[in-house]
Amino acid sequence: MKSKGKILVTGGSGFIGSHTSVELIQQGYEVVIIDNLSNSEAFIIDRIEQITGIRPKFYQFDLLDLGRLDGFFLENNDIAGVIHFAAAKAVGESVQIPLHYYRNNLLTMVNLLEVMVKYKIVNFVFSSSCTVYGQPDELPVTENAKVKPAVSPYGYTKQVNENILKDLIRSGANIKGIALRYFNPIGAHHSGLIGELPRGVPSNLMPFITQTVYGIREQLKVFGADYNTLDGSCIRDYIHVVDLAKAHIVAIERLIHGKNLSGYEMFNIGTGSGFSVFEVIKSFEKSTGQKINYKVVARRGGDIEQIWADTSKANNVLGWKAEKNLDEMTLSAWQWEQKYRVK
Ligand code: UD1
Repeated sequence: MKSKGKILVTGGSGFIGSHTSVELIQQGYEVVIIDNLSNSEAFIIDRIEQITGIRPKFYQFDLLDLGRLDGFFLENNDIAGVIHFAAAKAVGESVQIPLHYYRNNLLTMVNLLEVMVKYKIVNFVFSSSCTVYGQPDELPVTENAKVKPAVSPYGYTKQVNENILKDLIRSGANIKGIALRYFNPIGAHHSGLIGELPRGVPSNLMPFITQTVYGIREQLKVFGADYNTLDGSCIRDYIHVVDLAKAHIVAIERLIHGKNLSGYEMFNIGTGSGFSVFEVIKSFEKSTGQKINYKVVARRGGDIEQIWADTSKANNVLGWKAEKNLDEMTLSAWQWEQKYRVK
C-alpha cells in the first residue's frame, strides 16, 4: 500500500507518542520517530511493530543536538508533517529543576521549528496542555479563556511554546501550527502492548492506582478531600489515550489538506466531563473488580481544584470527539499494567 505521507513523531516511544504512532501507521502513514529515551523504553518500538505489523524508523538522539537534527531533516526532507511530543512533563520535578525544563522543553522547540523552516516542512502539531489555563474562572473551560500565570515551570514551558509557535507563524514563516491542549490522558491500547510507563514512583493518579493494586506501591494517597467539589476531591477531565491519539491524526490531516482556518489554531482535547478522584477510584473498582487501598491525605501543592473542557471547538471545527468512557479508561490501564508486569 502506498503511504499517505511521512510523519515525524518526536517522543514517539512515550505514552501519547506511541499510541499516536500506532494510529498513524494504521491510517496508512509512514512514521519516523525521534526519541532520546530519557523517559521511555526502546522495546516500545518493537511493540508498535507488533501491533501494526510495520516497524517505524527510529532515531535515538536528543532534539537539543541541532547538528543531528539538521542531518535528520537533510535525510528526511520529504516529511509531510511533524507531531511534537518530546518534552519533560512532571509538574513537581519542574519546580525542583526549572532550568532543565526550560532548556529541554523550550530549546528543543526552537531547534525543531528552525530546521522545519530551513527544510520547508510546513505542518506542525504541538502537544500542549490544559495546564495553560490554571484554575479557570468559568467551567467548562473554552479556548478563549485567559491564560493565567503558570504555577510550575512545566506549565510555563507549555505557554511559552505556544507563543513561540504563534510568533513564528505571525512573522510570516511558512509554518502552520495546531496546539492541542490535552486534559488528563489515561488508559492504554486495547492490545495491552503499550501504555503509560513512568520511571520510579508515578506522580500521576492512574499509574499510581494500577501500581498500588498490583502491589508495587503500598497505598494510594488521595491528595485532599476538602476541596469545594461534590465529594471534596479534585476534578479533572480524563481522556482515553487512544481518543487523544486520534485527535492528532485529525489535526495533522487538517494541516496537510489545508483545512485550517488560520495559520495557528488551538483546541481543547478532553471528553467534556469532569470526574473526581473518588469517582476514578470507584470506576476502577467497578471495571476491574479490584479494591484500591487508599487514604485521604493533605492537598498536594500546586493542584488546581477543578477543570474540565468545553470541547465544542474540537467537536465542531476539528471534527473530533472522544468516544471512550471512564470505565473503559480505567479497565484498559489495569489490563496494561498486568500484561506489562507478567512479560
Ligand atoms: C497535571 C497537569 C497536566 C500535566 C500533568 C503531567 C493540570 C490541570 N494538569 O495533571 O497538564 O500534563 O500534570 O503530569 O495542571 N492525585 C492523587 N493521588 C496521587 C496522584 C494524583 O490524589 O497519587 C490526584 C491529584 O491531586 C489530581 C488528580 O489526582 O487531583 C490527577 O492528578 P495527576 O494525574 O497528577 O494529573 P494533574 O496534576 O491533574
